[in-house]
Amino acid sequence: MGDAHPAGDAHTARLYREHLSAGRAVLGEVLGGMVETRSEGAWVHTSDGRGYLDFGGYGVFILGHRHPAVTAAVHRQIDAHPLATRVFLEPVAARAAAALAAHTPAGLDRVHFVNSGAEATEAGLKLARAHGRTALVSTLGGYHGKTLGALSATANPTYQDPFRPLLPDSAAVPYGDPEALAEVLARFGERACVIVEPVQGEGGVRIPPPGYLADVGRLCRTHGAFLIVDEIQTGLGRLGSWWGVDTEHVRPDVLLVGKGLSGGVVPVAAMVATDDAYAPFSRDPYLHTSTFAASPLACAAALAAVEAMEQEDVPGRARTLGFRLLHGVRTACTPYTGGLVREVRGRGLLIGLEFGAEQAVGEMILELVGRGVLVNHSLNAGRVLRLTPPAVVTDDELRLFLTALTEALHAVAARVG
Ligand SMILES: Cc1ncc(COP(=O)(O)O)c(C=O)c1O
Repeated sequence: MGDAHPAGDAHTARLYREHLSAGRAVLGEVLGGMVETRSEGAWVHTSDGRGYLDFGGYGVFILGHRHPAVTAAVHRQIDAHPLATRVFLEPVAARAAAALAAHTPAGLDRVHFVNSGAEATEAGLKLARAHGRTALVSTLGGYHGKTLGALSATANPTYQDPFRPLLPDSAAVPYGDPEALAEVLARFGERACVIVEPVQGEGGVRIPPPGYLADVGRLCRTHGAFLIVDEIQTGLGRLGSWWGVDTEHVRPDVLLVGKGLSGGVVPVAAMVATDDAYAPFSRDPYLHTSTFAASPLACAAALAAVEAMEQEDVPGRARTLGFRLLHGVRTACTPYTGGLVREVRGRGLLIGLEFGAEQAVGEMILELVGRGVLVNHSLNAGRVLRLTPPAVVTDDELRLFLTALTEALHAVAARVG
C-alpha cells in the first residue's frame, strides 16, 4: 500500500530530530510515535495500518482528505502543465479566480493567489499600505499567520515577543468590542487598516456578539479605514455559510481565503479584493509577486475544490452536520460542565470545548488519539480544544466520534477533575 514499515517510524523520528525540529520529534513521541502515511475522506492512516478519524486538520479538510474531484484535477494538471513560465497567460489560474469570485460576496471579484494563509495576510496588509494605510488594528486573540507582517496582527506575546520590533503603529483591541475599536480608529483615522476574523478560530472559537461585524464595517466606513476580513479558517462553508461575513452583510475591502481552498490536496490561499482596493496590484502586476503563486497545479486544486463545494453544498452540509455535532458534544459534556468543561461553543463545523485547565486539553488530545480520533488545540487559547471536521462525515463517523469523546471525558475527569 506504499506505507512505511512501523520499524521505519523510529528512523522518521530520528530524521525529525536531526533535520527538522527536535521539539516536533518530542511532540510526535508524546502523541504515540505514529507516522502518518495515507489519507482518504475523514480518515488518516498510520504506517502500522491504524486509521484515525480526523476531526482536526487545523481547518484544512472541509472536503475531507484527497477529495476525488480535486485529486483527479491535480493529476490531470501534473500531466499537462504543473508550473507556468509566467511569460504567457495561463488559463487554469484565470478559471480558478473566476470560480472563487463567483462565490465571494458581491463586489469582491479581484483575486490574488498565494501559497499560504500568512501570505494572503501579507498581500492584504501590503495592499492596505499601497492605499496609505500605515497603521494596523487587530484584535486580541486574533490569528493571521506568522510571517513578520502577519505576526504584527497575531496578538499573542508567545509568537510576537521573540521577533520584536514588529510593524510600527500597530494596536490590538478587545475582540467583540466595537467601542474599543471606535477609540483606536478615532486616533488612527484614515491611516488605519483593520483586520478581523468573523469567529476567532485559533483564539479558541470565540464567537462575537451578533452585529459585531456589521459594527466593524460601519466604523471602518465612518473613519475611512481599510477593512480586511480574514476568512482563512471560517470561509468556504466552515461556519455553515460560504463566508462568515454573509450573516451580517459586510463587504470588506479585502477577504482572505485559505485552508479548505487547497481541497485538502495542494497548498493554496488567496486574497480577494474589491476593484478599488485592488487597483494598485491590477495596474502593476509586478508590485507584489512570488515565483510559485497562482501555479496551475494549485489553481487546478482550488478550481476543483470550489466546484465540489458548490456541487455538494458544503456550506449547507456544514450547517446541518455542525448543528448535530454541537448538540452531541454539548450532551457529552453536560455531566462535566462547570467542572472539567467550562463551555462548548461553535458555529457550523468550527466547534470549541473550553476546559477549566490547559492540562485537560493535552490529556483530551491523548485520550482521543488513543481512541482513534484526531482533534486540535488552539494556538492562541490553551484551554480550548478545537474541532474542525470535514463536511463529508457520515452518521457512523459522527457516532464514533461522540463515543470516543464521551469515553475520553470520563477518563480525563477521573484524573484531572
Ligand atoms: C484565521 C487565520 N488566518 C491566517 C492563518 C495563517 O494561515 P497559514 O498557517 O496557512 O499561514 C490561519 C492559520 O491557522 C488562520 O486560522
